[in-house]
Amino acid sequence: MVDVKQQYHKIKSEIDKAVLDVIESTQFIGGPQVASFAKNLAGYLGTKHVIPCANGTDALQVAMMALDLQPGDEVITPSFTYIATTEVIALLKLKPVFVEVDLQTFCIEPDAIKKAITAKTKAIVPVHLYGHTAQMEEIMAIANKHNLYVIEDNAQAIGGDYFFKNGTKRKTGTMGHIGCTSFYPSKNLGCYGDGGAIFSDDDALAEKIKMVANHGQSKKRYYHDVVGCNSRLDALQAAILNVKLPLLNTYIAARIQVADFYDKAFAGNKKITTPFRADYCKHVFHQYTMILHDVNRDGLVNFLAENNIPSMLYYPVPAHRQKMFESFGGSNYHLEKTDWLTERVISLPIHTEMDEEQLTFITTKVLEYVNK
Ligand SMILES: Cc1ncc(COP(=O)(O)O)c(C=O)c1O
Repeated sequence: MVDVKQQYHKIKSEIDKAVLDVIESTQFIGGPQVASFAKNLAGYLGTKHVIPCANGTDALQVAMMALDLQPGDEVITPSFTYIATTEVIALLKLKPVFVEVDLQTFCIEPDAIKKAITAKTKAIVPVHLYGHTAQMEEIMAIANKHNLYVIEDNAQAIGGDYFFKNGTKRKTGTMGHIGCTSFYPSKNLGCYGDGGAIFSDDDALAEKIKMVANHGQSKKRYYHDVVGCNSRLDALQAAILNVKLPLLNTYIAARIQVADFYDKAFAGNKKITTPFRADYCKHVFHQYTMILHDVNRDGLVNFLAENNIPSMLYYPVPAHRQKMFESFGGSNYHLEKTDWLTERVISLPIHTEMDEEQLTFITTKVLEYVNK
């Protein structure tokens, strides 16, 4: 699905130097690379604070811990997402409230959020799934009206843009009270291990996030004011990310080119709905996920595999149907759109190193199966 190796080989000398420099410095934890990456990413995103952490799941957990949510508080989240989004809610003894996604964008539906709000609702977690932004303008209006926090799960959409109706634009992950991301190797901005970051424009909240991610330690070493955890981006990963961040826009452009190729090849085919791109955002194509109609999906997956073409089902089981959430009343939910999508989506390879020959082969094979 991705080709991290070829991508690495194009920047090998800079990466190798950056890594060796960190080793030579022996500043493995914290230090100048982590500090400069936080600053560089804040500059790229146009946000005040970036707090690096150990991975995207921790980013979500630390964000929720920093908001002082209490056991039983309700957090509205899509069920159609990677498990990490919903898992941390449960881990913190909060109540995940699963709602529908839009059939076109695959992102949380503002109307579904409105219907799910109760006196106990404290936060909303929109997920910019596959690289397409959720309807943030509408979501922020709902949140402001009901005094709710918004934590953007931006793990799949770093570098995306959102265009507001008044003509202004913001980077994804910087519109809510807190934004979270992952630098998992296959992500649009991936490191060579685990990594994550939390963003906020709010000074007080940023301080609290830093504190929570560092054992609840106040500015004074070994004085701990709140219960926190240990979540750090290590210096080797920060050094790698400092090399890769200036390339993020080029990487996104390469992904969009792949998506354009697929779109063109599948255009007009009644059995395939290609990914929607809403006018209000720039899709950064972490995944190229299409909807199949009257196609044996498992058959297509197997046929592609026989031709050495990987494909993935993101995700085969929505959160509300996971065993993990049985005790949270998961089976009481009726999320028809989520179920409908779960049964029909398929993701094709998309990354920065694809060439026309590969794309022609993939699209030819997909069409051969779909049209038979
Ligand atoms: C939507 C979403 N949220 C959260 C995560 C968690 O990130 P990580 O794997 O870095 O913990 C991921 C990535 O895997 C993701 O895709």
